[in-house]
Parts: sequence; structure tokens; C-alpha cells
Amino acid sequence: MINIIHTKSEMQAEVARWRDAGLSVALVPTMGSLHEGHLSLVQQAALQADRVVVSIYVNPSQFAENEDFDKYPRTLDDDVKKLEKTGQCHAVYAPSSMYDDQHSTMVVPAGAADGLESLTRPHFFTGVATIVLKLFQHVPAHIALFGEKDFQQLSVVRQMTQNLDLQIEIIGAATVRDTHGLAVSSRNHYLSADQLSIAPQLYQQLCIIAQRITQGDAQERVIADAQHALLNAGFDEVDYLEICDAVTLKPAQNNRQGPIRILAAVRLGKTRLIDNIALDQSDTLA
Ligand code: PAJ
Repeated sequence: MINIIHTKSEMQAEVARWRDAGLSVALVPTMGSLHEGHLSLVQQAALQADRVVVSIYVNPSQFAENEDFDKYPRTLDDDVKKLEKTGQCHAVYAPSSMYDDQHSTMVVPAGAADGLESLTRPHFFTGVATIVLKLFQHVPAHIALFGEKDFQQLSVVRQMTQNLDLQIEIIGAATVRDTHGLAVSSRNHYLSADQLSIAPQLYQQLCIIAQRITQGDAQERVIADAQHALLNAGFDEVDYLEICDAVTLKPAQNNRQGPIRILAAVRLGKTRLIDNIALDQSDTLA
């Protein structure tokens, strides 16, 4: 049976007991509604640490007024069952609240947080960085795992960890996709059957971009063609589609140096989908 912990003091005490016994501890932060993507993080955490804590908390400070905070699925019992089945999770941290009425300090990241997601969600990474720092305090683990699916979030967390000298190692994990290439996401549940047939084309276009850039085609042309193709495929809007330096997330130059990441956010009806790939994954296109 997984230990379900609701308070900061119990959580800290459990981690302290493990650490005193010489055990290594991994944290996998989530907002619940767990799917294969989350479970792959748990699996990788268990390979790298003796004890795995999954936190489940729908963080209000990373949702804007017009976003789906109230609608966001809350399925703690199901989530715990899924984690029990893995046999790899030792505790679930499900705090009822993380902010008291007097809460008035936020972590405001710049650098990797600038642009991309922040263009349409200006306060998102402030909410994410603040809750992640608090979770690190409540679950003082040796390592924390984050998915590359949210590549900018992973970069912002890495940057915060370095900048604020946090005593935790950040590990990125590959994106889990369905058989059509669509990145698994809690928000895929919002898609209709028609939309589900369109959605995988986001990944396909990312792969085409990677192939063309590798061949030496000019970035501007490649991005313009992909934007066109996405709108033709039935996406309603392209929030961004950018070729970036994989470390700074600043736009990459045509005479690129170092690792490159291609990142996109699109809208399909009311649902917003994000995805990204590394440039050197172009051979994954079927
Ligand atoms: P959530 O969307 O629940 O995601 C939790 C973790 O699962 C994140 O690190 C995310 O990148 C990873 N993840 C989601 N889909 C994935 C997929 N298809 N493959 C691999 N990993 C995937 O991200 C958040 O929650 C929150 O912002 C959080 C970090 C918990 C802070 O509130």
C-alpha cells in the first residue's frame, strides 16, 4: 500500500527517515490525472533512487483566469491505484493547500522563461517555479524528474535550481507518445474524435521541420511552410513555432551551433496542445 501524505510536516519527516537510513529519494511532481507520460517518469525515478514520491497538486497559481483550473480533472483515487500497480511509488504527496492566506512571495523566472509559453501565458512560469520550489522544500529529494514534453518548464526548473543553488538534481525524461505520435497529455481528453485525427500532425510537422533544417533549408522558409501545413490540417491557430537553442531557448541562428530544440503550441478548438523535439531526432519520422 502506498502511503498517502497530506501535510508538509509528515512528508518532510518521511523523507528525513529515508535519508537517515541512507536511502536515495526521487520526486516526480504532477498535477494528477496520471497517464503513461507520468508513469514513465515514475519508472525512471525508480531506476535512479531507492524511494519515489509522486506529488499530486493542481496548482492554482499557474492557471490564468480564463484557463481550465476548475475543470482540471481531479482523480486522486484512480491515480493512487495506477501508482500502486507500478509497484514503484513509495509515497504520494497530496497537499490540500500549498498557499496560506498570507502568501505573498513568488519566484519570477526570466531567461528560459521568456518567450514561447510566456507570450500567451505571462504568469505561468512564475506559478510553476513557485510551486516547484515549495515542493522541493516539502519533499527534500536527491533528484526530481520532469518531462521533456514541457521542455520550457524543464529548462526553467533547471535554471532556477542552478540560480538559487538548490540541493537537488533535475533529470529530464523523453516524451511518451501514442502510436500516431501525439504526445500523451491530460488535455487530450478534451479532444473530439475529429480533433484526435488532426492532432498527431503537430508531431509530424515538427519532424518535417527537423529533417529540412538538417538538410540545410532556410529556417524562415521551413517555419512558414509548417505553419501553413498546420492550419491546412485543421489546427485553428499556431501560438508559436520556433527553432531554439536547446539551452537558452533563444531563437537559433541559421549557422547554428550546439543542440537545437523545435517547439510549438497550437490551438485545436478550445484545446491548446504543446510539443517539441530535438533537431537530431529527425530520423524518428515514420
Ligand atoms: P503535469 O502536467 O501533471 O505534468 C507532470 C510531469 O509529467 C511534467 O514533468 C510533465 O512534463 C510530464 N509529462 C506530461 N506529459 C508527458 C509525456 N507525454 N511524456 C513524458 N512526460 C510527460 O507539469 C506539471 O504537471 C506542473 O506544471 C508541475 C510541474 C507539477 C507544477 O505544478
